[in-house]
Amino acid sequence: MIVTIDGPAGAGKSTIAKRLADELGFEFLDTGAMYRALTWHAQKSGVRLANAQELEAHCLAVSLQIRSGTLWMEQAPVGPEIRTPEVSRDIHFVADNVQIRRYLVDLQRQWVCNANFVSEGRDQGTVAFPTAECKFFLTATPETRARRRLRQLQQQNLPSVYEEILAAQLDRDRRDQSRPQGRLLKAADAITIQTDEMSIAQVVAQLAKIVQVRWLARIC
Ligand code: DC
Repeated sequence: MIVTIDGPAGAGKSTIAKRLADELGFEFLDTGAMYRALTWHAQKSGVRLANAQELEAHCLAVSLQIRSGTLWMEQAPVGPEIRTPEVSRDIHFVADNVQIRRYLVDLQRQWVCNANFVSEGRDQGTVAFPTAECKFFLTATPETRARRRLRQLQQQNLPSVYEEILAAQLDRDRRDQSRPQGRLLKAADAITIQTDEMSIAQVVAQLAKIVQVRWLARIC
């Protein structure tokens, strides 16, 4: 069974998708990490990101694999280095590129086929897995998402300004919603979960209940 979770940055998708996968005994795929890893690799390699052909040629030659739920790039596990503000700032070059998106969606389909997966991103229910049996769209207001991010950064002792986080997030929302392919979009058959007033545990419990009902309906 494939469960897709899409939604804007800061809606808690990764944490929730991972916990949901653990609870269900499913595998977990963080597709944002794939876009981040390629952006980081291109930056590190001195690729001119604004040159679409150069970027495309570079990214299509980078090998990505998933091993026990961890993303590997060029035979090494990918770590926290892909989660920097510099990567977030430049990720649109990779995410807007149609050829690179096709490469990544093909990989996602290869990995997920014939397995039980929770896959999260922006286009999982719309483009990557339009026939997935269970689709969710996780969201919260921009203010809630920015407050959550501020709290995370403060917990890591990283001094941050709420207004700057909110502005960067609105900018990413705008880009995510307006790219020509794979844009952030709720699939018509996705269930929307508005998480502003919910804890992570409450969201996971609600999603797990829905998946379990569909799972039972499938095997009965
Ligand atoms: O989930 P995240 O914030 O780590 O994702 C980073 C960026 O990657 C996001 O701003 C847009 C892009 N992305 C995408 O275009 N399609 C996906 N399926 C996942 C992420």
